[in-house]
Order: sequence, then C-alpha cells, then structure tokens
Amino acid sequence: MKDTECVQFLQQTLPRLRLRWLGFRKVRAQVCKRIRRRAKELGLADSLAYRAYLEIHRDEWDVLDGMCHITISRFYRDKGVFESLEQTVLPEIAGTAITRGEQELRCWSVGCASGEEAYTLALLWRLRLMPRFPTLSMQIVATDVDDDMLGRAHLGCYRPSSLSELLHDLLAQGFVRSGDAYCVHPKYREGVFFLRQDLRSAMPDGLFHLVLCRNIAFTYFDEALQREVLQKLRERLHPGGVLVVGSHESLPQGTGGFVAWPEKRGIYRKTEVS
Ligand SMILES: C[S@@+](CC[C@H](N)C(=O)[O-])C[C@H]1O[C@@H](n2cnc3c(N)ncnc32)[C@H](O)[C@@H]1O
Repeated sequence: MKDTECVQFLQQTLPRLRLRWLGFRKVRAQVCKRIRRRAKELGLADSLAYRAYLEIHRDEWDVLDGMCHITISRFYRDKGVFESLEQTVLPEIAGTAITRGEQELRCWSVGCASGEEAYTLALLWRLRLMPRFPTLSMQIVATDVDDDMLGRAHLGCYRPSSLSELLHDLLAQGFVRSGDAYCVHPKYREGVFFLRQDLRSAMPDGLFHLVLCRNIAFTYFDEALQREVLQKLRERLHPGGVLVVGSHESLPQGTGGFVAWPEKRGIYRKTEVS
C-alpha cells in the first residue's frame, strides 16, 4: 500500500470514526505502517480490499480505531504550559478553592497516554506547590482509551528519554531507579487514578478545577465532535475552572463559554455564561 493509497484510505475512513484527516496528515506514517501490517495479517492485497473487508466485518472498525491512536507523550511536555501552571494558574485556582472552603483540587488528564502528563502534574503539585497550600490536596483522574497505555501508566516506569525535559529537582526527588528505568515514587502516585474511557462517549464523574486536554480532541477529532466535547468539558469544570489544550491547538471557531488566559497560549478559563 503506497502512501497515496493510504492517504486516500484514511480520508475515506476517518470521518466514520469521527476523526479528521487534517490531524493525521503529519503522523500518518505510523498509522499507515499499522494498517499495512493489519492488511497483510488478514491476507488482503491493498487498501481497496481492506475497505471492502471493513464493510463486511463491522468489528474491524474498532481495530482500525485502535490503529489511529497516536500515543506520543513525555514528562513536562511543552515547558511553557507547566511553567504557567506552576507560576500562575495553579496558585490562583488553589487560592480560590481555599477561599471557598474546599480541601481538594480535582484535575483531569484527558488522553493521558502512559501517565506522563498526570504524574508531571502530581510532582509539580506535591513538590513545588503544596508546601504553599498545605491544607489542599490534589486528586488527578487520568483517562485514556488505549489499554496498553493505561497498563504502562499503572506501572509508572519510564525510559530516560521520556524524562529529559523534566525539572531536575522533580526528577531527583520524584523517582526511584529500577535498572535502566525511572519509576515514579509510590508516594507521588497517591491521588492519581487511571481509568479506561473513550472521550467520544464518556467522561469521569464530578466537577474539576483543571482539565488538561492536550494533543487529542482538538487535533484528531472532527469539528462537530470537537464542539460536542468542548461543551461537555465545560460542563465538567467548576465555575472559573481552567481548560488547557495543546500548544499547537485552538478551540473550534466561534465557540463560547471560555476566555483565553491573558498571555498564556492554550489556557482558557470557563466563563459564567456560555
Ligand atoms: C498524543 S497522546 C497525548 C498525551 C498527552 N495528553 C500529551 O499531550 O502529552 C494522545 C492520547 O489520547 C488517547 N486517545 C486517543 N483517542 C482517544 C479517545 N477517543 N478517548 C480517550 N483517549 C484517546 C491515545 O491513546 C493517546 O494516549
């Protein structure tokens, strides 16, 4: 299956999964590689044959969906975001929560991959911010649709390459060595909960102060789904709650209910009126 054939195949099939070609354009090589391997496994000659196979075998759409998971992540990904969270966003949310008499900040890492984002947040809170807000704990719910990723997240052990951007003190205090891997110290896993959920159809219960929805919905989902998901994310946020999207992402045009955080790219605050 040549690249052009695979591109055409993706353009035809992604909409049915409520995904958009634009999101996959740059990362198609790995998706096409998986599709080629799958077609070979099924003894199918080309993309047309695979297309026909999908029409007959409805369960195969789930397999194709699984092949479209782009699972790249790393600790402290997009340094500027975590600097903003540490310096401005979290202190402000924490201050407001304390004024309201709350004892816990609830955060949600959407499309958490192997847990890199969720554990980065946990380490940032526990090691850098909690000393300033000792009455406040942080609960992190981290969701992903991919079982392999969640298995790794539960394990909490990483290669040095995943950790190269992490602040030195968080690395030194937050991990224990296990052979070549670095494993998140058990005490910093407390309060981090992983759940298998497909964002297209489910969301965790309760309200959140902070939602990190980076490099998933606003890159790969089709525009109608982006709008639906955004509305549901809004409903899951506390008044004044904060939504963070990826540094190359933006909210679908013309959507209300959020205001951009001044001078912080990709960070939005829920407004009172939608
Ligand atoms: C590119 S990674 C982003 C990881 C992390 N948010 C970050 O920015 O570093 C996208 C993750 O979203 C997950 N994902 C893709 N589609 C999903 C869906 N419909 N529901 C939940 N998770 C999904 C993938 O399995 C993958 O782990």
